[in-house]
Amino acid sequence: MIISGKELAAKLKAEMAEQVATFPEKYGRVPHLVVILVGNDPGSQTYVRNKEKACDVVGFNHTTFRMPEETTEKEVLDKIVELNSDDSVDGILVQLPLPRHISETKVIETISKEKDVDGFHPLNTAELWQKRPNDSCVVPCTPKGIIQLLDAADYKISGKRAVVLGRSQIVGLPISKLLLDRNATVTICHSRTENLPEITRQADILVAAIGKAKFVTGDMVKEGAAVIDVGMDLDENGKLCGDVDFASVEPKASVITPVPGGVGPMTICCLMSNTIQCFLNKMLYKE
Ligand SMILES: NC(=O)c1ccc[n+]([C@@H]2O[C@H](COP(=O)([O-])OP(=O)(O)OC[C@H]3O[C@@H](n4cnc5c(N)ncnc54)[C@H](OP(=O)(O)O)[C@@H]3O)[C@@H](O)[C@H]2O)c1
Repeated sequence: MIISGKELAAKLKAEMAEQVATFPEKYGRVPHLVVILVGNDPGSQTYVRNKEKACDVVGFNHTTFRMPEETTEKEVLDKIVELNSDDSVDGILVQLPLPRHISETKVIETISKEKDVDGFHPLNTAELWQKRPNDSCVVPCTPKGIIQLLDAADYKISGKRAVVLGRSQIVGLPISKLLLDRNATVTICHSRTENLPEITRQADILVAAIGKAKFVTGDMVKEGAAVIDVGMDLDENGKLCGDVDFASVEPKASVITPVPGGVGPMTICCLMSNTIQCFLNKMLYKE
C-alpha cells in the first residue's frame, strides 16, 4: 500500500479550511502566519512558496518577510522580537537553513514558545519529552505528519519494533519520541551505528531521515514492514528522490510513502494545524 501524503494533506487542509471559515464569527479574525526567509537558497524559496499556497488554501492571513543574504543576526532577532509582541501574529516561522553568520539556535530561542509553529523552541521540545498533559506543546511538523500517515493507513503502532534512521532535532529525535508515546519499541540509528542493515531488518516500522539518496535498499527491509521515507534528496540525474530505494523496497513493504507526495505534503499540512493550535491557544486563553 502506497500511502499518499498528498491526498491525505489535501483532505486535512479542506477540513481545516472549513474550521477556519468559522473563526471570524467566533474570534473576529483568521490565524496569521508570518514567515521569515533570509537569503536566496533555492530549496527554501520553493518551501516558502508552498507554505504560502497552503495558507491560501486553508484561509489564513499570511506575511512573508524576504530578507537579503547579508541581513545581520541582530536584524533577524529584532524582527522576531517585534513579531512576538504583535498581537495580530499567531505563528512565526524562520525558514531554515539560515546563512552561516546567523545562529539558528539563537533564532529558535528568540521566537516565543506560543508562536513557535515549527515546535523547535526548547520549551516545546521539553514538553514533548516530558509528555505533559496539555495542549500548549507544539509538535514538530514532519514527525506529527508521519504519525498521521501511519494512522491514515490504519497501521497499528503499539507493540511494534520501530527503527529510526537519523537523530536530528527536527525529525529523528521527535519521531522517535512520538513512536515511543504510541508504545512502539524504538531504536535510533545514526552515522556511527554499526551493522545498520542487521538493525533495519528487524524493523516493523522503518523511518528513514538521513538525507542520503536511495540509501535504504530492499535487502535492508523486513518483509511486511511499514517504510516511511522522509528524505528529500537528488538522485544521480538531479531528480527529487528519498532516502529509500523505492523500486527495491516497495515490493517488500506492507505500507510505504513515496517521494515526492509522501511526508513532504504532510509537513506543510501540520504547519497549518500547528498554526491553528497556536491561534486557538491564544484566543481561548484570552477568553
Ligand atoms: N519531507 C519533509 O518534510 C522533510 C522535513 C525535514 C527533513 N527532510 C529531509 O530528511 C532528510 C533528513 O533531514 P534532517 O534535517 O533530519 O537531516 P540532518 O540534520 O542532516 O540529520 C541526518 C541524520 O542522519 C544520520 N546519518 C547520516 N548518514 C547516515 C548513515 N550513513 N547511516 C545512518 N545515519 C546516518 C546523521 O547521523 P549523525 O547524527 O551521526 O550525524 C543525522 O543524525 C533530508 O533529506 C531532508 O531534506 C524532509
